[in-house]
Amino acid sequence: MSAETDFIWWKHGVLCEIWPRSYYDSNGDGSGDIQGIIQKLDYLAELGIDGIWLGPVNKSPMVDSGYDVADYRSIDPLYGTMADFEQLLAEAHKRNIHIIMDMVVNHTSDQHAWFKESRLSRDNPKRDWYIWHDRKRGRPPSNWKAAMGGGVWQWDNATKQYYLHSFFKEQPDLNWRNPAVRQEIYATMRFWLDKGVDGFRCDVLNYFLKDDQLRDNPTSLSAGIFNGFQKHLYSRSQPGMEEILRQMRAVLDGYKDRMMVGEVFVAQDGPAMAAAFMGDGDLCHLSFEFSLLFTKWDAARFKEMINGWFAVLSAKGWPCNVLSNHDQPRAVTRWAAGADTQKRAKVMAALLLTLRGTPFLYYGEEIGMPDSPIKRGDVMDTVGKMYWPIVKGRDAERSPMQWNAGPQAGFSSVKPWLPLNADYSEINVAAQEKDPLSVLNFYRRLIALRREKPALQRGGYEQVPSDKNILAYRRTYHNEEILVILNFAGERKVQAIDSSKRWKVLLGTQRSSESAIDKDGLAVYPYEALILEEDK
Ligand code: NOJ
Repeated sequence: MSAETDFIWWKHGVLCEIWPRSYYDSNGDGSGDIQGIIQKLDYLAELGIDGIWLGPVNKSPMVDSGYDVADYRSIDPLYGTMADFEQLLAEAHKRNIHIIMDMVVNHTSDQHAWFKESRLSRDNPKRDWYIWHDRKRGRPPSNWKAAMGGGVWQWDNATKQYYLHSFFKEQPDLNWRNPAVRQEIYATMRFWLDKGVDGFRCDVLNYFLKDDQLRDNPTSLSAGIFNGFQKHLYSRSQPGMEEILRQMRAVLDGYKDRMMVGEVFVAQDGPAMAAAFMGDGDLCHLSFEFSLLFTKWDAARFKEMINGWFAVLSAKGWPCNVLSNHDQPRAVTRWAAGADTQKRAKVMAALLLTLRGTPFLYYGEEIGMPDSPIKRGDVMDTVGKMYWPIVKGRDAERSPMQWNAGPQAGFSSVKPWLPLNADYSEINVAAQEKDPLSVLNFYRRLIALRREKPALQRGGYEQVPSDKNILAYRRTYHNEEILVILNFAGERKVQAIDSSKRWKVLLGTQRSSESAIDKDGLAVYPYEALILEEDK
């Protein structure tokens, strides 16, 4: 527990995203499940986390790995039963671990009962729960491109209208301008909150509203292939979300200590959009900012991105930081493939756990687990199936957790749903638990340190001048001052530190608490991560 009494779990704690299908298979069917997560709660508690963001577990035809929900008030049998879920909540709460569910309500599956009704006829009572439109001069009503390729409009021959889908055609978008839709979603939130769920990670919040005049998006070559070479001026990030966010927030505020974290990402909008969705801390409690996921391994670029993110937050906004998730190659694969992977993994760990804001780990990040390269025949993600070999999909970053060096990496008793990484005999939890210098033990120490030091949990943040290969910053809280020095280079660099103060090592990759700190220019080791505290 924190030294401070006003510890807010989602703000001062550490959260971890778990991809349920890949965490631990308890019933020998090759896929991870809820009982599997229950069995690993002690491991997560020992790691020191305060909350789990559970990837989607509602009933789904799995066209988009569960981001296509067919029933919001159910658990998909692949993962278990409602009783399993309730047990997960109870067991997690016993260990002070909170559970956030993925709430995927920009769209449903086309197999959802609402959509099945909606498509029956133009005058069906559920028609207006989705976005249907006539042809416009023999063509789709707008030129908008879907995030998964192609246009957003799908022709429905039975009723001779198009419906809109921002992702796959099997994921029709709900009509958030319809009050009945809103009320039903809010009731669904209450359904889960009543069970004790601690909050929601809200999928693509900034896609909910679309321009009601359906104006065409401007072409933009620089927007790139993934944005369909257009600026999504009218199809995403529309005004009017504040009202919806306030309504969602009011639902949450009817309960104690619940939260929502928004996924608010459109590269064209930058961090300002993510910040706007938090308002003054009165809309989303947190919202993801993904710039670091797309930044190269370069201390100077990191400085710029971090400054950019912190600068747009309102005085009451609170950052949350993420280096990996289920949609992008893992951080160690992006930034540390090849040499010195584990050393660089520790630099990333130190960054994530000492930056101002709530850290979100991605399962396996704590052992420096890389992506598992995928072959054509093993592809599960529809993105990979559709666009191979140009785009291979997101399976590589969703591979099974590497628990030990035994058969199936200790993940399952049978062949897993996705191939295991070939490196699992070396990179796994059991091996790293035994090695005091492992990435896992470094994460554990960092998380414990963060819990102990208010300056890391909630202190101010200020960058310190440094060599271009070093990212250095100061975290301060009352009279506590902590200095973090991260060397992104594989060479020694020098860092000037305030020589009027005495410094002691709190945690470092290359030094112990006994190491003396040379004040007139600290020689920082290659890929060193060093956390100092002013010794008073
Ligand atoms: C964002 C999710 O993270 C991604 O995995 C999914 O494909 C889309 N939203 C659509 O729900």
